[in-house]
Amino acid sequence: MEGRVSTIMESYYDYIQSKNDEIRENGLWKSEVSLAGPQSSEILVNGESWVNFCANNYLGFSNNEEIVQAATDSLSNYGFGMSSVRFICGTQDQHRFLEKEIAHFLGTEDSILYSSCFDANGGLFEALFSEEDGIISDSLNHASIIDGIRLSKAHRFRYENRNLVDLEIQLTKARASGLRYLVIATDGVFSMDGTVAPLKEICDLAEKFGALVMVDDSHAVGFYGPGGRGTPDRFGVQDRVALRTGTLGKALGGASGGYIAGKKVLIDHLRQRSRPYLFSNSLAPSIVGAGRKALELVQKAEEVRVRLEQSTQKIRKGLEELGYDVPKSDHPIIPVILGDARKATALSNYLVSQKILAVAFSFPVVPRGQARIRLQISASHTEAQLDYLLGAFDRGRGLLKELS
Ligand SMILES: Cc1ncc(COP(=O)(O)O)c(C=O)c1O
Repeated sequence: MEGRVSTIMESYYDYIQSKNDEIRENGLWKSEVSLAGPQSSEILVNGESWVNFCANNYLGFSNNEEIVQAATDSLSNYGFGMSSVRFICGTQDQHRFLEKEIAHFLGTEDSILYSSCFDANGGLFEALFSEEDGIISDSLNHASIIDGIRLSKAHRFRYENRNLVDLEIQLTKARASGLRYLVIATDGVFSMDGTVAPLKEICDLAEKFGALVMVDDSHAVGFYGPGGRGTPDRFGVQDRVALRTGTLGKALGGASGGYIAGKKVLIDHLRQRSRPYLFSNSLAPSIVGAGRKALELVQKAEEVRVRLEQSTQKIRKGLEELGYDVPKSDHPIIPVILGDARKATALSNYLVSQKILAVAFSFPVVPRGQARIRLQISASHTEAQLDYLLGAFDRGRGLLKELS
């Protein structure tokens, strides 16, 4: 028996090894750069100082002193871990304070914390929508929305990214299927493109078809839209969006944690029925304390947001002047489209040789023929770092010509 089990195990390990080999052969193996220090616009890699242009550290809060201090204080006052889920004995007063503060900031009635926004999106649809309902989802939505929708029994409809004509077609189909409640699910900002969902038009269509709207604003809250309140506020539709999800893992300190914000009745129901909330540990006390401080700082960060906006404009304009293809937007995610995967990899390798971290993405992460380098600007990038980046892209043009 033992021999048979070990044969099965060996066969299985060989099978997975062949899958790993296939990923490598297709040039899709993801390797990890190891930082020997904190996340920042300047990072320590292999004992060298590099400039980082691919963190979601939009406000430069990942190593903010006050946030680190708040985490330390929370560690002292509330301890290290909760050793429980929220409804057994894992709720501290500060969990509720943070939920109320997120809700107040976004102008919703309440919010609910999760270990991550991945969990928030994973636990939203199954709890709130059933086989009688329909979810109409943007084709470029984040993986966690896609997985969350898969976990629910609701009927699924997919519309082409930000395409309102297709959205209307899918809404018409969904209505014709006799479904009860419909919900349009969209990212506020699409992370591979830095483009923004047309929320005003989406809300208009939602009203025309009697649908709800859900927005994942992970790449907006803290720094985008008036007061950093995100994409619904940017388009003045904050009262027309029923559900908002977001993360503490990007602009709001960058550690971990996610939330869903909306009407109290929905949040109450999620506390009773949302599986990643019910069956996973509470957010760690230090993260909660730090999250509260991050949210407090966001509300005083107008100058930081202006700095981020100016740096974003400078890089977008500079790259265009150098002749690079940069899709139009005003968001600090800046994709530089190179088309050919070889070119994207070669330019990214060149940037790495210049001690600039800027990752290349190609098929299947982005559509075939749209390989790119994705830059992300932080308010903490200095003028010198921004100029250094543009200088490297300038020199990189010669390399790209050789590959043409
Ligand atoms: C749009 C979007 N939603 C959700 C997530 C997941 O967030 P978290 O890291 O909090 O799980 C991400 C992170 O990559 C994201 O970009």
